[in-house]
Amino acid sequence: MDETTPWWTEATVYQIYPRSFNDSDGDGVGDIPGIIEKVDYLDDLGVDAVWLSPVYGSPQVDNGYDVSDYRAIADEYGTMADWERLRSELHDRGIRLIMDLVINHTSVEHEWFVDARQSADSDYREYYFWRSGETDDGNGDGDDADDSSRPNNWRALWGGPAWTYDDVTDECYLHLFHDRQAELNWENEAVKEELFEVAEWWLDRGVDGFRLDSINLISKPDGLPDADPEEGLTGLHEVVNGPRVDEYLRAFCRRLGDDVVTIGEMPDLSVEEARRYVGDEDENLSILLSFEHVELDRGTGARWAPRDWELPELKRVVERWQEGLTDGGWQGLYFNNHDQPRAVSRLGDEEHRRASATALATLLFTLRGTPLLFQGEELGMTNPRFERFGEIRDVATRLSVEHAVEEGNVSGFDEVSELINDRTRDNARTPMQWSAAANAGFTDGEPWIKLNDDYERVNAERERNDPNSVWQNYRRLIELRDEHPVLVYGEFDLLLPEHPELFSYTRTLDDERVLVVLNFSSETSTFELPDAIAFDAVETLYHNGSRSDPRSLVEADATLRPWEAGVYRLS
Ligand code: NOJ
Repeated sequence: MDETTPWWTEATVYQIYPRSFNDSDGDGVGDIPGIIEKVDYLDDLGVDAVWLSPVYGSPQVDNGYDVSDYRAIADEYGTMADWERLRSELHDRGIRLIMDLVINHTSVEHEWFVDARQSADSDYREYYFWRSGETDDGNGDGDDADDSSRPNNWRALWGGPAWTYDDVTDECYLHLFHDRQAELNWENEAVKEELFEVAEWWLDRGVDGFRLDSINLISKPDGLPDADPEEGLTGLHEVVNGPRVDEYLRAFCRRLGDDVVTIGEMPDLSVEEARRYVGDEDENLSILLSFEHVELDRGTGARWAPRDWELPELKRVVERWQEGLTDGGWQGLYFNNHDQPRAVSRLGDEEHRRASATALATLLFTLRGTPLLFQGEELGMTNPRFERFGEIRDVATRLSVEHAVEEGNVSGFDEVSELINDRTRDNARTPMQWSAAANAGFTDGEPWIKLNDDYERVNAERERNDPNSVWQNYRRLIELRDEHPVLVYGEFDLLLPEHPELFSYTRTLDDERVLVVLNFSSETSTFELPDAIAFDAVETLYHNGSRSDPRSLVEADATLRPWEAGVYRLS
């Protein structure tokens, strides 16, 4: 808004999942030179910053979210020289670079863990959580103790116990994700210092900020008490937002300085808890990534148990977050990322692909906060179809199914294939669809994960040549937000909260007021806006369809087509 406003409030961030973006050397895995080939594409779209999912040294158990060397680039992604070129090519175009920092845990192949595991006296032992548990049962299957004999009853997020026994020192270590991702012990000053130095090392190389992975998990509850069985023993509820998360983050942000963006990924966060992470400006997380809006369809009980939901619930969640952070704090706006199914398939309607993708985009770009797009979202990419367990690459899906089968809760993939098709993170990770050429132009080799077979119809080349495509609409919306600070900073006021199909609100900044109207359904919908909205003084700022007079959409008794969306200036 003025020169004191941080750059990221008005930015649009584009997330790249390198493995699936563009492969330059034909090994079937995306890489950094592949990203460099596409920087002009990003520039044309108009994004201001790239969030790069992890490219560090890693055994790739969780596609890089298991770091074994924070100061190296994984061989399959390229070299440090490639990374430096990418940074420069982005910066030359005015695009900032945000690295994904995974500092809640490391890979068990990180040298700290390798050393820690060797001896209870290792200098690195206290970098992790080691506790005595029941000893080896001697059968060598690595699955020795039952839950009651482990240090506590926590379950890992993808199933199975959160503690793994290690016979070298006859103790268990804690891991909330895969057993090859060991939790770091932030209680230990040396750990914090090491991690701060990692961040500074990358800042010295010119990065503009960090997305902080699973960051509200970094402080564990004192004494690591048992989880309440009523909470499903996932461990998550017991370990998020622990007693010192805010203290650690304040120290981290102070150290990094004002101009560095910090985007905190925070599962299981309520608006009230979010205030803990919002304090003085120089020690705040810049952007909070919360989950409530993408968890409406999640039931309780078994992982991924589905739940039906209605639009008014989503409106209430959006309203709560829009209003809840106005006294400080800034929200990241997203529907898609590498962990979420494609929003068109999940919230929109594949039968109305173009209209629903652009209606969702309209919502994203007209809320208060910073929009974060995920590669392929701007093409309106949808979920693919996974026919066999063998096609699943996502370690979270694989582990969850394997544990469920082991524990006798499901018989196998077939029983849960619909659920998996709806929810697996692989939905987001199929290769970026560049063209109708073989393998969607992603690779000359064999892709590491199956393609969505709609790529001849849905691809960047085609989208860019079509004036009404999803891509063109994203580009217009990015521009629209750039031109209208009211869309970035304006106060949010929800209209018609109980309307089952209409999502409508105003945004107000000083004497500027904007109205957003969108039909969040595949049905034709009618509505009447409150009298207070001045119908006769509207100017169309954006419309996602082909209505000859978009203003007619906000005239009395207007009828909206499926997923029709418009943005209007009110006087
Ligand atoms: C959140 C990341 O987004 C996800 O992909 C990863 O598996 C977990 N954190 C563990 O790092």
